[in-house]
Amino acid sequence: MKTVSICFVCLGNICRSPTAEGVMRHLVAQAKLADRILIDSAGTGDWHIGATPDERAQQAAANRGYDLTALRGRQIAAEDFERFDLLIAMDDKNVAALRQISPPAQRDKIRLLMEFVPETDARWGGAREVVDPYFGGAEGFEQVLDQCETACRALIATLRPQLLD
Ligand code: 4NP
Repeated sequence: MKTVSICFVCLGNICRSPTAEGVMRHLVAQAKLADRILIDSAGTGDWHIGATPDERAQQAAANRGYDLTALRGRQIAAEDFERFDLLIAMDDKNVAALRQISPPAQRDKIRLLMEFVPETDARWGGAREVVDPYFGGAEGFEQVLDQCETACRALIATLRPQLLD
């Protein structure tokens, strides 16, 4: 059986990448692909190792039916480039940090989440980054969710053909 393994990556692993993980798990289960698409998340920084997702991220996600309570912060490591097929970053700084620790042969595994959204998407086409909501207000967490929902749907559509037997 063909599978693909994905690690979503942000700075702290308490706001954006856990949100992406929770949204992706939900959509992948709905698509009956939970045994084919393996999902994790991590941060490039080490401040929140072992921590639950930010309360604001958890609440905003719960309001849309995504449960982030079981997730715990961890820091990305060079070994993750062996474990995962794709390391999907939220912003350009995350990409730069991933490139610093990536074995050269594995650099092509690093992608930006918003790359998967078609340019023609009326709301998010052309948006490059999922902006860090940590120091902002509640609307930032809603925007993260909107972007994760759009991008994870597009990501599943991209992956689905390569998972067929
Ligand atoms: P995240 O947000 O990268 O989306 O998890 C942040 C969380 C914590 C910090 C920065 C960004 N921080 O500086 O602690």
